[in-house]
Amino acid sequence: MRSLVFLAAIGLTAAEDGLNAWLRYARIDGARGYHNKLPSAIVTLNATQGSPIQTAVNELVQGIDGIFGKKVAVTGADKRHRPMTAATVGTVHAFVDSNPGAANDLPELVEDGFYLKVSRGNVLILGQNERGTLYGAFHYLSLLAQGNVSDFSLASNPDAPIRWVNQWDNMQDGGTHGSVERGYGGDSIFFWDGKVREDLTRAAQYARLLASIGINAVVVNNVNADAKTLTEENMDGLARIADVFRPYGVQLGLSLNFASPQTLGGLPTFDPLDETVISWWRGITDSLYRRIPDMAGYLVKANSEGQPGPMTYNRTLADGANLFARALKPHGGIILFRAFVYDHRSLNQTLDWKADRANAAVHYFDGLDDQFDDNVVIQIKYGPIDFQVREPVSPLFAHLIKTGTAIELQISQEYLGQQAHLVYLAPMWKEILSFDLRVDDQPSPVSSILNGKRFGRKLGGYAGVANVGTNTTWLGSHLAMSNLYAYGRLAWGPASSLSAEGILQEWIKLTFSSDRKVLDVITRMSMASWPAYENYTGNLGIQTLTDILLGHYGPNPASQDGNPWGQWTRADADSIGMDRTVWNGTGFAGQYPPSLAAQYEKPDTTPDNLLLWFHHVPYTHRLRGSNKTVIQHFYDAHYAGSATAQTFPALWRSLRGRKGVDRERYEHVLFRLTYQAGHALVWRDSINTFYFNKSGIADELGRVNNNKYRIEAEDMQLDGYVPYAVSPFEAASGSRCVVTSRGNGTDARGEMRTVLPGWVKTGRYDVAVNYYDMAIGNSTWELWIDDRLVGNWKGDLEYILGKAPSPYIDGQTATRVTFEGVKIRKGSVLRIVGTPDGLEPAPVDYVSILPEGLSSGVKHFLIRRENIVLKSSVDGFTDSSCGSRASVLMF
Ligand SMILES: *[C@@H]1O[C@H](CO)[C@@H](O)[C@H](O)[C@H]1NC(C)=O
Ligand SMILES: *[C@@H]1O[C@H](CO)[C@@H](O)[C@H](O)[C@H]1NC(C)=O
Ligand SMILES: *[C@@H]1O[C@H](CO)[C@@H](O)[C@H](O)[C@H]1NC(C)=O
Ligand SMILES: *[C@@H]1O[C@H](CO)[C@@H](O)[C@H](O)[C@H]1NC(C)=O
Ligand SMILES: *[C@@H]1O[C@H](CO)[C@@H](O)[C@H](O)[C@H]1NC(C)=O
Ligand SMILES: *[C@@H]1O[C@H](CO)[C@@H](O)[C@H](O)[C@H]1NC(C)=O
Ligand SMILES: *[C@@H]1O[C@H](CO)[C@@H](O)[C@H](O)[C@H]1NC(C)=O
Ligand SMILES: *[C@@H]1O[C@H](CO)[C@@H](O)[C@H](O)[C@H]1NC(C)=O
Ligand SMILES: *[C@@H]1O[C@H](CO)[C@@H](O)[C@H](O)[C@H]1NC(C)=O
Repeated sequence: MRSLVFLAAIGLTAAEDGLNAWLRYARIDGARGYHNKLPSAIVTLNATQGSPIQTAVNELVQGIDGIFGKKVAVTGADKRHRPMTAATVGTVHAFVDSNPGAANDLPELVEDGFYLKVSRGNVLILGQNERGTLYGAFHYLSLLAQGNVSDFSLASNPDAPIRWVNQWDNMQDGGTHGSVERGYGGDSIFFWDGKVREDLTRAAQYARLLASIGINAVVVNNVNADAKTLTEENMDGLARIADVFRPYGVQLGLSLNFASPQTLGGLPTFDPLDETVISWWRGITDSLYRRIPDMAGYLVKANSEGQPGPMTYNRTLADGANLFARALKPHGGIILFRAFVYDHRSLNQTLDWKADRANAAVHYFDGLDDQFDDNVVIQIKYGPIDFQVREPVSPLFAHLIKTGTAIELQISQEYLGQQAHLVYLAPMWKEILSFDLRVDDQPSPVSSILNGKRFGRKLGGYAGVANVGTNTTWLGSHLAMSNLYAYGRLAWGPASSLSAEGILQEWIKLTFSSDRKVLDVITRMSMASWPAYENYTGNLGIQTLTDILLGHYGPNPASQDGNPWGQWTRADADSIGMDRTVWNGTGFAGQYPPSLAAQYEKPDTTPDNLLLWFHHVPYTHRLRGSNKTVIQHFYDAHYAGSATAQTFPALWRSLRGRKGVDRERYEHVLFRLTYQAGHALVWRDSINTFYFNKSGIADELGRVNNNKYRIEAEDMQLDGYVPYAVSPFEAASGSRCVVTSRGNGTDARGEMRTVLPGWVKTGRYDVAVNYYDMAIGNSTWELWIDDRLVGNWKGDLEYILGKAPSPYIDGQTATRVTFEGVKIRKGSVLRIVGTPDGLEPAPVDYVSILPEGLSSGVKHFLIRRENIVLKSSVDGFTDSSCGSRASVLMF
């Protein structure tokens, strides 16, 4: 695939590895011209060594130097000799102490809030607390980096006190590593070999990024927690992490394993009401706070997916949560208790039409609302199942009135392409946060429940599962970092005037540049990416259709039925969808407040995009909006979504050499977008073939299973290759691929060859090869036309992409390489030589010979078109031309 990347070194700026993300402080155009609008000195009111105020000062010095090439001096308030212009940095309290008259002119700030005033180079940065001062400094620097030096004043308060990220980092993995569960950017930055890492440089850099977007705590270890996190040695290690977080105002939180008193403490029980258990946890908590006096608190996953919990002893979830709440209370800590409680062993689809995992959270928490202590917050995933591409908002938010709640969002793209697909999530989050739950028939947007206003509560907020790793890109992909950035911005002010697109554009300016075209292209791709991904994966609320039993990554719709995890589609030959109605189904719709429950109860009042979430309907059921049948919508959406993904590499290439798009990041992003375009076609064909096979209903436009530019590998003349029946069948074109048959090593290479069919006239073509890259070897392939080597490639994607590895020939490993502009003569012979490696038998599925003017022509067309439409709205991108484009893109 790398052979696709043609780079002109000229015009590409110095390489960047992504470590500084949006805090690059890159020099802006005409930097010198801004100098007289900037402070010449920084006056600190109260900067003790290692405090967030000290950090704010360091960032200001570094930032103003980086962005403008201007050096500023730092001086204390007492010995300032009035420079021309100054930035005054400190807490409101310290400012009022030295300027008693100023108190009345300052706006009201809540905890962590800040006040920022810029007036002809004089700047006031005041925080309600030290952390707030740092937030103010980062806000000012963000404006500067975007070239904004205008005068203004602003008071900014966070919407909610809990703005945490969760890391699902394992201390130990098979005895050696520190891996990250559902992390796609490398190993843990905190743990290695069962211990806290000696070198915590990356932990400090992470805290810096998080502070710049207003995040105030990190839960550093996996919710599937290891009791050994609490050994004396590891508690010392955790204290070292807290020490490197502290200058950034980031607090440490810890996931606990409910059974620790028994497994680590050697007690005979972990019953939350047992006195010895209570005092064991009190002892642990006290010794953590001796080391980390400002620890944020705990996160607990209990009685979920086989984890221990209070229900093990027939105690309530409130008994379980309060156990920790009481240990934390004297120290001012809080506990986030996860609502993700369900018993997968009790779910059996075959036996019970009414069984439904979506019902579990409300089922377990109802009746407990007045039983939680006041430092307990229930952490609820946004939807009732599990971070799917489309879910209704969890009804539990409408059931807990007295108890504080936090929403759990997933920044790491577990079901959403694992950072190997670009999927910008802020539009989805924005939709969820503004969703009106109509509690007591009153306006009840989710964000007003989280910030406590709707029900008059103090505690609540946001938990984002980030899962960054040691990769310098943090998440494994440069473009995926817009999700981390947007998460922080939304947690600070979900209902603010900032749109998902506005947040994205800030991020683009800071991460790349303010170049018009860079802004337009990345905006266009990112804003189209979630709808496109939903289109080419699972539609109408059916879920993502990833392989639920393996990596949660590639297509395997059959795995979404009959599994013991309760993620079901109930697809049969005639109909599809979960019947979650009250009258005939699982009753889930009835968990919503009455007006919503009534809406979801009937197909003709349920939004189309949730139809199959709530209803079991025939494939021929017609949608309210388009009047298409369900099955035709599946087909059309998969063609449209995958066609959208085909445009991403071409759009990105149009940025080569633009300001801020350095060679390293350019190549890295292009590689991923090219991969995504190929895998989107795998998705399209797998899903369409699967449901065509299941329903027997043909595509009205005749596209499904009718790929006229395709030559199946199994139809070629094979030497050292044999046909292989792929499982699941839909993961291969024609349900078969070919694999080498002579064992290992270079002498085990195999070859397939064919004389190209008559319709391939002399000319230039894009030649695409679909193959499988399994994580059990690095096969190599060569593509030949007559005696000319067109290109070769290696099957080592698993080392490059970071997505869940798979040892199988399936939808997770199916991928595609394209060689553009290949010269072919009529009657040419095409050959692929594959050399197996390890246990990977160099599998090949098919070859597409795409006539000139088809794929590349479409790309050129788009680039040309883009010059015309780029200035118009992003919606223009997904306009009606998608349909016609989709119909020609039958590769
Ligand atoms: C200055 O900082 C110290 C240490 O953080 C604190 O104890 C003191 O109250 C602060 N003074 C003012 C005026 O804010
Ligand atoms: C669990 O508690 C319920 C209600 O308190 C009680 O009816 C039931 O017998 C208990 N079961 C066990 C196994 O203790
Ligand atoms: C980051 O990950 C990408 C892909 O996973 C890989 O190509 C690159 O080498 C990694 N870089 C570092 C510094 O870990
Ligand atoms: C569900 O019940 C059926 C019928 O008894 C059984 O064959 C199947 O194994 C069960 N499935 C699970 C996941 O328990
Ligand atoms: C009602 O539920 C039954 C299963 O109990 C199902 O077979 C049937 O299709 C459902 N009826 C409708 C109209 O959805
Ligand atoms: C929907 O399509 C069907 C089949 O073509 C047609 O009979 C029906 O009138 C259409 N309904 C609407 C509201 O357009
Ligand atoms: C998604 O699919 C629908 C239905 O075919 C189409 O109207 C829309 O343009 C598609 N959007 C994208 C971004 O692919
Ligand atoms: C495959 O290649 C990668 C580098 O691209 C290497 O790190 C890895 O060890 C190789 N794996 C096998 C199984 O040979
Ligand atoms: C191929 O090599 C792997 C080790 O890389 C070995 O485990 C496997 O048994 C070999 N298979 C054959 C058929 O020789």
